[in-house]
Parts: sequence; C-alpha cells; structure tokens
Amino acid sequence: MERFYTFLFVAGLGCFAIAFVLSMIFPWMSLGSYHGMEYKTLEDLAARPSVEFVELSKSYPQDFAQAFGSAEPTAAAFAEALQRGRDLYVGQACWHCHSQYVRPVANEDLRFGPVSVAQEYQNALAQPHLWGTRRVGPDLSREHGKRTNDWHVAHFINPKNVVANSVMPRYDFYFSFDADGRVRPSKDALSLITYVQWLGSESGRR
Ligand code: HEC
Repeated sequence: MERFYTFLFVAGLGCFAIAFVLSMIFPWMSLGSYHGMEYKTLEDLAARPSVEFVELSKSYPQDFAQAFGSAEPTAAAFAEALQRGRDLYVGQACWHCHSQYVRPVANEDLRFGPVSVAQEYQNALAQPHLWGTRRVGPDLSREHGKRTNDWHVAHFINPKNVVANSVMPRYDFYFSFDADGRVRPSKDALSLITYVQWLGSESGRR
C-alpha cells in the first residue's frame, strides 16, 4: 500500500512537472516565425494608417500634433501609436481582465467573431502574445470597427458613461478638459484608442 502512495505522489509531481514544461514550451513555440508563417514587423503593420487613426488626427488636431510632432497621420506616427498603445495595455494590465484569443469552443465565435488562428499572432504587436489570464471583460481580438473613437473616449474616461453596470476602471487620467469642457486626449489616450481600434483590423488580422 505504501508503495502505491509513493507512486501516486511521484505521479502527481510528474503531472505538475509536465504542465510546467508545456506552459514554457507553448508560448515559446508562438514566438517568431512558426512553421514558415509570414512574420510582420511593426513597420509592415503600420504601413497604412488606419481610418480610426486618421480620424483621431482630424478630431483632435492640436493634441495629435502635440503628441506626434505633426498633425499628419503618417505611417511613422501610426507605428509609434500602436507600439505605445500595446505597451500601455501591458503596463496597465488590461490583459488581466481581457483576453485576445477567440476559442473554438462554447460558440465563442457568435459572441466575439471568427475563431483565432496561429497566423494572427505572427507579428510584432502580438508577441509576446496577450492571450490574457481571464475574462472579466470581453475578448478584444475583434475590437476593430465595433465602436467609434468617440465611444472609446467616453468609455476610457469613465466606462459607466456608456455601460451603466461596467466594472472596468476609469482611465480619465489620460485626458484633460478645457475650461469649456472640451476633451483633450493625451498621447497615451490617442495611442490606447489607436491600439484597441487596430485589434482584429485588416492589418491586425491578416
Ligand atoms: C477590472 C477589469 C478590467 C480592466 C483592468 C480593464 N477592463 Fe476593459 N472592460 C472590462 C469590462 C467588465 C468590460 C465590459 C463593460 C464595459 O464595456 O465597460 C470592459 C470593456 C472594454 C472595452 C469595450 C469592449 C466592447 O467593445 O464592448 C474595451 C475596448 C476595453 N475594455 C479596453 C480596456 C483597456 C484598453 C484596458 C486597460 C487600459 C482595460 N480595458 C482594462 C473590464 C476591465
């Protein structure tokens, strides 16, 4: 009997060891070009500034110029905004409440859109991947085009502005307000909106 318990104990440890090793190998496998898939650099992704980015430059010309050095929504400015937006997404731990992975189970595609495929993660903005840890909020892989820029502005200032019972925190520190109440987005606000509007877009999805 004692040998049986020893076996159980060792087998139990073995299961944890396998899980430990696999959870190291799988993310590693998703890095770089995998199985000959095409890998896109930030410059590739940002070659054509998105409609939303161009619109931000027109809606907030002053703040946009202050943030990116010119009121022109160039490819270089777009690349900068995307990278900064991703960095903020990581730094603010948005990934702690949001996933970026539509799973092929539980009819997720009905709620979030097409199931994620490996090719989507073969680019500079998706590596290391941001699959997330849990879903307090919805999956964001298909966020592009779902909301307007204005919606995101109102939402980041205070999610309850647009979703009455939201538990998402306010990110109003990314904005300031003129004496007449006009919203003035910071570079961080513009970048974060550019990034979430990019998720699942033509260049985001390939
Ligand atoms: C405490 C958990 C939590 C954190 C942290 C969080 N969110 Fe959310 N988020 C939510 C919840 C819950 C919702 C759904 C309700 C709503 O729309 O506000 C949501 C909704 C959203 C939506 C709208 C999705 C849609 O189209 O319906 C976006 C975009 C978003 N979050 C982005 C972010 C970003 C970017 C950050 C980090 C700066 C962030 N969230 C941090 C919980 C969170």
